[in-house]
Amino acid sequence: MKSLLLLPFRTLAALTALALAAHAAPAIKIGFLVKQPEEPWFQLEWKFADQAAKELGFTLVKIGAGDGEKVLSAIDNLAAGGAQGLIICTPDTRLGPGIVAKARAAGLKLLTVDDQLVSANGQPMSKVHYLGISAGKIGEDVGKTLAAEMKKRGWSAADTAVCAATFDELATAKARTDGAIAALKAAGFPANRIFKAPQRTGDIPGSFDATNILLTQKPDVKHWLICANNDNGVLGAVRALEGRGFTAATAVGVGINGTDCIVEFEKTKPTPFFGSMLLSAKSHGYDTAKMMYYWIKDGKEPPLDTRTVGVLITRENFRQVLKEQGIRD
Ligand code: GLA
Repeated sequence: MKSLLLLPFRTLAALTALALAAHAAPAIKIGFLVKQPEEPWFQLEWKFADQAAKELGFTLVKIGAGDGEKVLSAIDNLAAGGAQGLIICTPDTRLGPGIVAKARAAGLKLLTVDDQLVSANGQPMSKVHYLGISAGKIGEDVGKTLAAEMKKRGWSAADTAVCAATFDELATAKARTDGAIAALKAAGFPANRIFKAPQRTGDIPGSFDATNILLTQKPDVKHWLICANNDNGVLGAVRALEGRGFTAATAVGVGINGTDCIVEFEKTKPTPFFGSMLLSAKSHGYDTAKMMYYWIKDGKEPPLDTRTVGVLITRENFRQVLKEQGIRD
C-alpha cells in the first residue's frame, strides 16, 4: 500500500526533474560554413552533417560564404541566433586570426574543416581544432597513379608532359600538387617536363584559363598527365585539353575528392579524366558535426588535428565504391 502511494510521487518528481532539465539546457545550434557551396564536395559535407543533426537532435545552420565579409557577418548572425559552435571551411585561410577572435568574442566553439587557418606570418594555426586530408600523401598517390598509367600506355617521356594546375595560396592545395610532382619525379619522370599552370581562382574556370595558357606555350606535347588541387582543378584542365583535340587516348588526369567527377565518369565516352582520390565526405561532415555537438554538450574537446585518407576511384569501380560509402544508392 505504502509503495503504491509512493510510486506516483516518484514518477511525478522524476518527470518534474526531466522537464526542468529540458528547460534549463539550451537547444544546441551549430553553424556549418563552407567556401564553395556549389561544389558537390561541400554539398555532401552538409548532407552528412545534416544526418548527424537528425540523429543527435541539434539544429544545423548551413551557410555559404565566398568572401571574408560574409564570413564575419555570418559569425555575428550565428551568435545572435543562439548558436554555440561553428564548423568552417573559410574562403580565405588568411582570415584566420580574425575568425578566431570573432568566434571567441561571440562565445562560439570553433572547428575548422578542409582548409587550415593561417596566422599573420603565414604559418598554420595549429592550436585551432582542424580536420583535413593527408594532403601530401594523397597527392603522392595521384602522382603514382599518373606514372603507372603513362607506363601502361607506353608513352615516352620525350612525348609526354605534366600539367599541374596549382593553387599555391591554399596550403592543402599546394601540398597535394607538390606531392603529385614529387611522386612523378620519384617514378623517374623528368623534372624539366613538369609544368605548373597557376590558377587565379580555385574553381573550374580558374584551371581552364591557367591550362589554356600552358597549352599555348607548349604546342608540341603529344601526351599530357594532369594533376590539381581537386576534381574541379582537373576538370578545368581536361576541358582545356579537349578544346585542343586531346582525348582519353592522349591525356590522363587524376583528381581529388571523388565527388565532383561523377557526371564525368557517367559519360558514355571516356574523357581524359581517368580517376580521382575519393575522400571521406562523411568524416568531414558527420564526424565534425558530432565532435562539435559533444564538445558543446559535454565539454568533450575534439582532437586538435585529424587527417583523413583517400582511395582511388575510376570509371570502372566508382559506382560500387560510392555505394559502399553511402554517397550513392
Ligand atoms: C579543399 C578543396 C575541396 C576539398 C577539400 C577536402 O577545401 O578546395 O575541394 O578537396 O579541401 O578537404
